[in-house]
Amino acid sequence: MRAVVVLPGLSSRLGLVRKSPVRRVAALLAEARGKKDLISFGGGAPSLPPPKEVIEFLIEKLREEPQFSASYGGTRGFLELRELISQDLKRYAGIEPDPAQEMIITEGATEGIFLSLMAVVDPGDEVIIMDPTYLGFIEAVKLCGAKPVGLPVYVEEGFQPDIERLKELIGPRTKAMILLSPDNPTGRVIEKERVKAIVDLACDHGFWIISDETYKHIIYEGQHTYTASLPGAWENTITVCTFSKTASIPGFRLGYAYGPAEAIDAMEKIKQYISLCPSTPAQLAMMAFFKDGVKERYLRETVIPTYKARRDVMGKYLAEFLPEAKTVRPAGSFFYFVNMKSYLERLKMDDETLCNQLIKEVSVVAIPGGYFGERGRDHIRLTFVSEPEERIIEGLSRMAKYITEKAG
Ligand SMILES: Cc1ncc(COP(=O)(O)O)c(C=O)c1O
Repeated sequence: MRAVVVLPGLSSRLGLVRKSPVRRVAALLAEARGKKDLISFGGGAPSLPPPKEVIEFLIEKLREEPQFSASYGGTRGFLELRELISQDLKRYAGIEPDPAQEMIITEGATEGIFLSLMAVVDPGDEVIIMDPTYLGFIEAVKLCGAKPVGLPVYVEEGFQPDIERLKELIGPRTKAMILLSPDNPTGRVIEKERVKAIVDLACDHGFWIISDETYKHIIYEGQHTYTASLPGAWENTITVCTFSKTASIPGFRLGYAYGPAEAIDAMEKIKQYISLCPSTPAQLAMMAFFKDGVKERYLRETVIPTYKARRDVMGKYLAEFLPEAKTVRPAGSFFYFVNMKSYLERLKMDDETLCNQLIKEVSVVAIPGGYFGERGRDHIRLTFVSEPEERIIEGLSRMAKYITEKAG
């Protein structure tokens, strides 16, 4: 028997990041599946089945060509799928990335974000992100050894980025800025003039824009601006996108990125050692998404009307049940980001304690705003995609009853 075991320890890199609290909530929700009493305004996973044409095509492929459907593919993904995406971008955005050189299929936007950061930032570089923002950005930037620099955005300003404030943050170490529109957690759609101003700053100062367009089709009002389509943007913009939300296939893990050939080539190089290639069955399924108008029909007839109705119900009852809560009606994505300061002061709680209490006392899941950055404190994030209208009303009513009774 050995007397002493020298423990090797884990990498110091781990000290840079925390485990994702939203993933923890997602795991809790998965465990609680079927627990009818629990109402979730938590994780932002679509609650609709994927289009039936997609599923039928995949089943057919798996039956008819089982070996091919389960095999490895190239690191950039199927050329045919990249061609379909490029044609789709031509239709919507007026840009046509070269499928061979300027596009890569990824394991969701998560891998796209990570690969793009790995491709463009060095340890010690600064990456500007909004505060609050999607928490995946903060930790991915840190994992790359870079420093996230927060650009504060405020509920009173519709969470729009202020260009003058941004100028003050740009310095010699600024290597990239991550844009997210429509936004998670605020639902903000960045105004086109502001995206243009950001592109101009990136060109003048020589930094990259990583444009996360995960929710580009989940828009209820206004229009999405395709960053890469703006004059001067192409050469320093990497766009990251996903099928998780649009096609309701988050578990298939499929997304894509496009940008200048040199950046995509660098992303491919890194992907070869991280995940080898994208999932073959998921790619096959998504080929059907782009055929015979499936995508447009699914978005027009199912996704947008379902989520818009839920958004409207949540907005109406939030205002009615919690009149002191301050928020902005989301023009896109899946979330209300609600400033609860006036209630929290009377409750003598912070946003995390309130969310813990809401689960414990009334079985309602909400996400503490502080998870999304310093400026997110005193807010809670509520998703409206997980529950049908009547349960949204029930959940808000339970929350409001708890809060107003306790707050007095
Ligand atoms: C803004 C944003 N980017 C990326 C992702 C990750 O998506 P994917 O499932 O494509 O990895 C999400 C998921 O919620 C998101 O909200």
